[in-house]
Order: sequence, then C-alpha cells, then structure tokens
Amino acid sequence: MPLDIVVGTQWGDEGKGRVVDLLAAQADFVARYNGGDNAGHTVTVGEQTFKLHLIPSGVIHLHTVGVIGNGVVVNPATVLGEMETLRAAGIAVTPNRLRLSYAAHLITPAHRALDQAQEASRGQGKLGTTLRGIGPAYTSKVSRQGLRLLEMLDRQRFADAIRAHVQEINRYLTALYAAGPLDPQEIVDEFDGYATQLAPYIADVSSLLAEALARGRRVLAEGAQGTLLDLDHGTYPFVTSSNPTAPGALVGLGLGVGCAERAIGVTKSFQTRVGSGPFPTELAGEIAARLRGTGANPWDEFGTTTGRPRRVGWLDTVLLRLAARINGLTELALTKLDILTGLPTIRLCTAYRANDQTFSALPFGPSDLAAYEPAYEELPGWDQDLRAARRWEDLPAAARAYILRIEELSGVPVRLVSVGPERTQVIEIP
Ligand code: IMP
Repeated sequence: MPLDIVVGTQWGDEGKGRVVDLLAAQADFVARYNGGDNAGHTVTVGEQTFKLHLIPSGVIHLHTVGVIGNGVVVNPATVLGEMETLRAAGIAVTPNRLRLSYAAHLITPAHRALDQAQEASRGQGKLGTTLRGIGPAYTSKVSRQGLRLLEMLDRQRFADAIRAHVQEINRYLTALYAAGPLDPQEIVDEFDGYATQLAPYIADVSSLLAEALARGRRVLAEGAQGTLLDLDHGTYPFVTSSNPTAPGALVGLGLGVGCAERAIGVTKSFQTRVGSGPFPTELAGEIAARLRGTGANPWDEFGTTTGRPRRVGWLDTVLLRLAARINGLTELALTKLDILTGLPTIRLCTAYRANDQTFSALPFGPSDLAAYEPAYEELPGWDQDLRAARRWEDLPAAARAYILRIEELSGVPVRLVSVGPERTQVIEIP
C-alpha cells in the first residue's frame, strides 16, 4: 500500500517543502503527522511564495486533500490564518480539501505563555524553542489533560474544558514562573469562535486514510522538523516534543505498519541547526557566512518561523547513518548542492573521535554529541554553476563524487538532487 513518508534527516530545515512539492504532484492525500506551527515550509510556485506552518504544503496541488493527523498539535488561529492566505491566492480550502483529526491536540495561548515563561527561566540553558507552545501542548497531551479537536464539537463542554485548562496553567505561570495569569474567559470566547469555523473540518483521519490506501490512493506524509530533533532519537534534551521520524508518521496518522512504501530522507548538502544543542561539525567564519547567506534570499539560512540565523557546518554522515537506520530510509533527496559551488574543498564528517578512540557510530545515540570531535574526509570542490544541471551527466565530476561518497557513507541511494530554488531546478536519478 503506497504511503510515502518525507522526513528530514538533520535538525529540520532540510528543504522538505521542495521535495514534498515534487512528490505531491502524484499524491492524492498530503498529510502532516507531527509537530505544529513550529515548522515552516516555504514553497515557491511561479511568482508566489508560500510559507506554511501547519497546513501540509502539498495542498497547493489542487487535486490533493490535505490532512492533519492526530500526532499534530494545532494552533487554531494559525490553521485558520493559513486557510485565508491560501484562499487569497486562489487555492480553495474547503472541508473536502482539508481534514483535521479529531484526536489532534490544541495549542492555546496558555501553552504559548508557558513555553515563553519556561524558556525565560532556563536562562543560559535555554532550549531555543520556537515559543509556539509546542512542548507545553504535548505535555498536556501526555499528562492526559490535553484538549483535543473533538472537544470543539460540544461547545459547552469545550468552554468548561478551556476554562479549567487556563486556570491550571495559570497556577504554573504564577507560582513557578512569576508570570501574570491569563484571562480564562477571553480564551474561552476566542476558542468558541475557532470551534465554529473548524467544526466542519474535523474528521476521523485514520479511517479516511486507511480507506483511501485500500482503494489504491497515494498518501504523502510530510514530516516536520527532522530526525535529530526527534523526542526519542534526537539530541535530547535539545529536541522538539514529537516524533518527526518516519515511524512517527504511522502513529501520527493512525496507520498500520504495512502501509509504508518509501521513506525519503531529505538531506541538506551541509548541516544546519537553529536553536541550542550540540553540533560537532559547526563552522564559524568565512565558510559559515557563505553557506548561511545574507538573509536577502528566501533560501538563505534564516529560520522560516522565527527569522533566527541558522548555525551551519559540514555534512555529518555519522548522524546521517543514524537517520538511515531510525527511519528505514529507502532513498535520499539531497538539497542545496548549488550552495557548495566555489568552495575549494568540501569536508564530510565520517566518524567521531573521543579519548583517542574513533567511533563510526555513537555508543549512546546523539545526546552526548558534545563529547566528540568530528573526523573529516576532504573532497575536492567545484566551480561550475550547477543551477542549469538537469541530469546526472550535467554535474561536474567533483559534485558527482561528493554525492556518490554520501551514498556510500550513508548506505542509502540518492534519488533526487536540488540545484536551485526553482521548482524545476532538480535532478532525478533513476
Ligand atoms: P520547539 O519545537 O518549539 O519546542 O523547539 C525545540 C527545538 O526544535 C528548538 O531547537 C527549535 O529551534 C527546533 N525546531 C522546532 N521546529 C523546527 C523546525 O521546523 N525547523 C528547525 N528547527 C525546529
């Protein structure tokens, strides 16, 4: 049964939106399964650039149905705002084109206030969250005090539940963080309006997708963030609060293990990270500035959601091997290869060193990364502009050698290479 999962293999921002956009052309359903509006997918179509945080970016293909699964945490104001943005751009968003799982959890202003208060209290040790209330919303879910979209269908109960929720979070805000309390009634009123607007979109996403797959329809699952931000498998505690990894798509959409066909690992040709946490191959200075860009272009390395400059470094294939294993990757999509043009040499991290020992894998996962020094292999760079390349043969030999080495070191074939920001600037490798 054809469920294809697009997953980031790094710390997010790998260019998944680009790959999703390509694959969505053949999909019937496009689905978000984890995270919330901490994600930011930029998709450029002709003159128009869309920044979507919550609605699956594949919905810009008008034949698709967009789905938000139970694994997502939904800020209703964001989803409604994005519906408006899409409509204004002539992209219809109706209950026939967008379904939200009744089991997805809501993010409220109280969750956002708590995220901010917690980050402020961490001082130097802050996680660098997006301040979108993601951690607190998942905390509510796990502690069985969350508010699901289902609740919106019974307005009186919903009002009572929101009020109790805000009162509960107010206790944390005031007692633990010396922050001001929020007005429960204000949030009750705000969310009553959201319930009216969202009710027609609430559905049983799990059965909708299972039936579609049984009928031979194609579902494309769009991972948000990336493998190294996975709550269980990432650089804990510098992670997000969900499972962006491919198995997370099954849990986050309510699908069984037999559904998945491809797990496409989107990998940037170099490494980036936004927010705190270990990053062994991080670069400073001239090469870093060059990889990051100035911020003048939408594809420069500045956060889509927060605008923060991203930390940049050499591609880390120790972590890529970890991503291949955890996700069961069937293929890689390598993005932003064109950005490496002009570097005299390019480094690949192939192993780590610590205490005079070399490690090709991490003994205890990526949490204690800070203890390791990267061991590099150096490859020749290239000067040719890659942006017009459309076939493997069009690439200079040094660029091909770089790709082949990544395949070798990760054990996963590279099937797609992006060489520029435009939709057409890709090379498909059969
Ligand atoms: P949170 O998801 O807002 O709780 O943030 C936790 C960590 O994940 C922080 O380091 C964020 O910068 C990072 N993060 C969350 N979402 C994204 C994303 O979509 N791209 C890149 N980093 C992200």
